[in-house]
Amino acid sequence: MRIAPTRSLSNAGSVLIYALRSPKSESSSGPGFYREELSWSETMKLSGKVAAITGAARGIGKACAKRFLDDGVKVVISDVDADGLAATAAELGRPDALRTVVGNVAKRADVDLLVATAVKEFGRLDIMVNNAGVARNRDILEISEQEFDEIIGINLKGAFFGVQAAAKQMIAQGSGGGVIINMSSVNALLAIPALATYAMSKGGMKQLTSVAAVALAPHNIRVVAVGPGTILTDMVASSIYTSDDARKTVLSRTPAGRGGEPSEVASVVAFLASDDASYITGQTIYPDGGRLVLNYTVPVKEK
Ligand SMILES: NC(=O)c1ccc[n+]([C@@H]2O[C@H](COP(=O)([O-])OP(=O)(O)OC[C@H]3O[C@@H](n4cnc5c(N)ncnc54)[C@H](O)[C@@H]3O)[C@@H](O)[C@H]2O)c1
Repeated sequence: MRIAPTRSLSNAGSVLIYALRSPKSESSSGPGFYREELSWSETMKLSGKVAAITGAARGIGKACAKRFLDDGVKVVISDVDADGLAATAAELGRPDALRTVVGNVAKRADVDLLVATAVKEFGRLDIMVNNAGVARNRDILEISEQEFDEIIGINLKGAFFGVQAAAKQMIAQGSGGGVIINMSSVNALLAIPALATYAMSKGGMKQLTSVAAVALAPHNIRVVAVGPGTILTDMVASSIYTSDDARKTVLSRTPAGRGGEPSEVASVVAFLASDDASYITGQTIYPDGGRLVLNYTVPVKEK
């Protein structure tokens, strides 16, 4: 472990503070690509805010919850998986600052309940993260109407419900605005034939983010999206890293030489939620290890 000096901007004046940083992770670092995880918020810029996160029983949503709690945010997490949600709440601890709501984002009433819980428990809502999402591998010719409705219903309609519910609350609060963050994907722009419904939902989310950003700007509400590349979660294990060949295919399109960690998406979410991003709205930020700018492929190391 090493100690790195950082400058606190949250206090008046320039107070020099020290942040403990975890050592370089050997397992996940790629060639020439240094990664380090903050174990403590550098500035606590989000302290006192209230956030709601959907799909937070595991993966990226859980990492966002952990990051927010570390940053002094009061958090309500929601998921359709009741057992997973309870286990995550127990693991995260912090009964002073964490609440849970079981809910399906494809149902408007469940999303409304999440926002209402944030208000009831913590008095307001400042940050909404529409993170819940599912991916299904299927040949485009084989996708049923039911499956199309299911994926679009969770990934796109669920995020739309989240935008509406959060924005209504933020407007009703009267001042201060808020930030709505949609969890998109590089698949908003790129095409994987086996993930057609997923790509369509994330492409729609790009426009949801743009339209809502313009519509809600007069209310001082920013709407942004985060579009990860390949992040090492259960979703990737079940739908992307399905074999060693599949892993090599993914990494051949990943200049960083490794999959991303959920915490590396959560740190982008924390930045976008903060006033450091006060002039960013309507855009998608892509933590993707370089995928979107790569032409052709890169060599992949054997395991
Ligand atoms: N992992 C990646 O590589 C990656 C890349 C780009 C984008 N994303 C996006 O990030 C988000 C989170 O992905 P992840 O990798 O953490 O996935 P994950 O499968 O690990 O977690 C998703 C969570 O969403 C919950 N969920 C599923 N359907 C729901 C519903 N109808 N209502 C409420 N909760 C529901 C699940 O129970 C689970 O806890 C998704 O929107 C996904 O599309 C992930």
